[in-house]
Amino acid sequence: MSVLVLGGSGYLGTAVATACRDAGDEVLVLSRRGTASVGEGLRGDVRAPGLGLSRDDLARVKARVTHVVLAFGSVSWRGGPGETLETHDAATRSVLGFLRGLPALEQAVHVSSLLVMGRAEGRVSNRELYVGQTFRNWYEYGKYCAERHVRDATDLPVGVVRFGPVLGPDPRGGVPDTRTGLQAAIPHVLAGYPVHLVRRGEFPSWASDVMSAGEVVRRALTAPIGRATWTWFDPAMPSTADVLTEVCRPWGVVPRIVEARLFDRLSRLVGARLGLAPELLDYAEPWLDLDPAVLDDIPRPWPRPEPDYLGAMGRALLGRAPAEAAR
Ligand SMILES: NC(=O)c1ccc[n+]([C@@H]2O[C@H](COP(=O)([O-])OP(=O)(O)OC[C@H]3O[C@@H](n4cnc5c(N)ncnc54)[C@H](OP(=O)(O)O)[C@@H]3O)[C@@H](O)[C@H]2O)c1
Repeated sequence: MSVLVLGGSGYLGTAVATACRDAGDEVLVLSRRGTASVGEGLRGDVRAPGLGLSRDDLARVKARVTHVVLAFGSVSWRGGPGETLETHDAATRSVLGFLRGLPALEQAVHVSSLLVMGRAEGRVSNRELYVGQTFRNWYEYGKYCAERHVRDATDLPVGVVRFGPVLGPDPRGGVPDTRTGLQAAIPHVLAGYPVHLVRRGEFPSWASDVMSAGEVVRRALTAPIGRATWTWFDPAMPSTADVLTEVCRPWGVVPRIVEARLFDRLSRLVGARLGLAPELLDYAEPWLDLDPAVLDDIPRPWPRPEPDYLGAMGRALLGRAPAEAAR
């Protein structure tokens, strides 16, 4: 099969491209920079008509591509409405329009996030999307809009795979990005600062490792997923405290996780004073009541998370001062 990975030069997109390449697929990777560490890089822009492809590349994509993965856009929780919605909301709609003009399309997969559920109350599964929730930031809302468009595109063979925080060493090599997401706590913890978490972080992180995440997306292309929604996380279900502990282990640092019984103003103030990303403070308590049985929607055998991916992430950060790990 011929797979076009939109955003395939990114952290998660590279893992998807790797899983496809290793399975023998032809892999085309689209990004604004046009670079690819796996597969053939194409320069384009998902916000532009025809994905911003050159005439030749557009003709090639139309003639060959049978499978598409939507893995574009950054995970920054700090983006404003303009950039975030342009990428996750408007561009997703425009990409779905592009898919309608792909003659050989068999299956597409949209990479979504558990954060689409925002501040949903009560237990959620793969079925729900809008349950009256509000959102903590524009990223959550942008990903919600993206999944809404995909679910509404009932004429297209496009399914959804949701992830929580995707962790592990960067498949492109180099130092993992700790600027956003759960990873943003790591530099602070490594520097010896306390992190305030409800139940001292003993609640599910819903984390997965990046390589198994890539394999699940490929599984969704070939199963095929059809129009269903899947959710993937490490079946060992590491807690948020486990994640911080394991990433810090190679540094010989035991995280100072402090009980934040009620995540009150004082805890927020302390966290903010210590430079913890304010957005992260919104996730210092159990942020989603997800039914763990959602995993059963993914056909077995499930991919195995890389052994010790959290420790490997910590080792990849070694050699940088904790403060530098934030950059
Ligand atoms: N990482 C996670 O923990 C996580 C969890 C759940 C869901 N996701 C979803 O997975 C997707 C990728 O996340 P990531 O962590 O891999 O982010 P990333 O490392 O920042 O990668 C983003 C990719 O999208 C490309 N891109 C951005 N804007 C584009 C545009 N306008 N046109 C074409 N390509 C564009 C980037 O390349 P250029 O900058 O060169 O264009 C890059 O290849 C996002 O949709 C995110 O919501 C990620």
